[in-house]
Amino acid sequence: MSARGNFSNKMGFILAAAGSAVGLGNIWGFPYEVGQGGGAAFVVIYLIFCFILCFPVMVTEIAIGRKTQKNAVGAFNDLGLKKWNFVGKLGIFSGVLILSFYNVIAGWAFGYIFEMVAGNFAIADQFGTYIKDVVKVGSYGLVFMGVTAYVVSKGVSGGIEKAAKLLMPTLIIMMLIVAGYAMTLPNAIDGLKFYLIPDFTKITASVVYNAMGQAFFSLSLGMGALITYGSYVNKSDNIVSSAALITLTDVGIALLAGLMIFPLIGFMSGGTMEGAGRGPGLIFVTLPQIFGTIGGGLGIMTGTLFFVLLCFAALTSTVSLLEVPISYVVDELKIKRTRAAWMVALTIFVIGIPSLIGNGYSEFFSTAFTTYKDGGKDTDFLSFVSALANDTILPLGGCLIAFFAAHIWKKHNLDEELAQGAPSYKGSFVQKYLNFAIGYFAPIVLAIVFVLTVLFKFFGIQIF
Ligand code: TRP
Repeated sequence: MSARGNFSNKMGFILAAAGSAVGLGNIWGFPYEVGQGGGAAFVVIYLIFCFILCFPVMVTEIAIGRKTQKNAVGAFNDLGLKKWNFVGKLGIFSGVLILSFYNVIAGWAFGYIFEMVAGNFAIADQFGTYIKDVVKVGSYGLVFMGVTAYVVSKGVSGGIEKAAKLLMPTLIIMMLIVAGYAMTLPNAIDGLKFYLIPDFTKITASVVYNAMGQAFFSLSLGMGALITYGSYVNKSDNIVSSAALITLTDVGIALLAGLMIFPLIGFMSGGTMEGAGRGPGLIFVTLPQIFGTIGGGLGIMTGTLFFVLLCFAALTSTVSLLEVPISYVVDELKIKRTRAAWMVALTIFVIGIPSLIGNGYSEFFSTAFTTYKDGGKDTDFLSFVSALANDTILPLGGCLIAFFAAHIWKKHNLDEELAQGAPSYKGSFVQKYLNFAIGYFAPIVLAIVFVLTVLFKFFGIQIF
């Protein structure tokens, strides 16, 4: 067991898993999804999904991982249920897809560090030009992928855990300061209203599907990332309480990101909230503006520090995304970790090139793909892949994992694993809820959402 590496203690695991969860999904993805999804109504649906559906799936993934001490595919084999290892393979596939576009965004964020150092707050207005410069942003992306490969090549507790321990708390403090400042600006209140007072007439099918995808993505669920991390967890740790802490941290940081961004949009738009629905570019346009209003040396300092921390948050996530295929390749194909990390990372970088050039540089990759996310308009490759991976494959993966655990591996085995390190688990209300959620509620709801999402996003058929 120790030959595979372990987290040094419970806190180490929670930090690493929270580090995986907290990333661009919270700070880049969540605000733009809220902005496009009509504000607070999206937030409400998102929160419901996180706690009642995603939390049970998270518990299940960690339990499968710890029980088997294996990677996402090996775990199914180890339980003697080899037929089901396709779920792990699907997970590895979606992890590769996600990392391919995630790294592109991380590259943008990385480049912003240098823009902030140079005091170039005007980048807010030139964002479109910035991402078209594919050689520049591509090089940033390549460096980012290289650092990810380096950390993964060093193994679990050496790199992943250490980085998370220091940087997560710093990020939270920094966000609190920026959010506090944003709220003092004129018209900030209009941003808060948009963000916090739900208008339920804004809930459409697409808001619901996107909220589901966002919840899975942000919590790093549905592709075996937490099976893999769970495999490094000690038997004496309490899985359910760890999962609760991870969920709360992740949701808390997403909510905090909204508290930074929306007051600022209120301020910039003079209260109309115009621009909130801009999409994936949102934070890259709004955040430099806030640092610009701070201005001077202080603006440069806070701006730089912010993007440095954002990049670290992204790094603990890219590391977890890369760790899933790597632990598979290392365990099952017996390839050396270092070699595997560099080879796979480079391959994924190449797979990400269409996402990189599909932001204005290549006409074809910028417009030739259709999802029905925004009412059927042609879209770019990155948005297409993220609709495919986040909103479609992850909920499917979650559905299959929950169904598998409750009905194939069997509930009593799952319960047994969850009770290890949690003496009062058996007979508790939490146990009853989890049994219901994992056995019936999650698989059924997720299956329905999966079918509706596929019909809607890829075929334009809307049933609800
Ligand atoms: N949760 C991360 C974020 O919000 C992204 C991520 C890391 C992820 N690992 C994952 C998403 C595994 C899905 C599955 O930025």
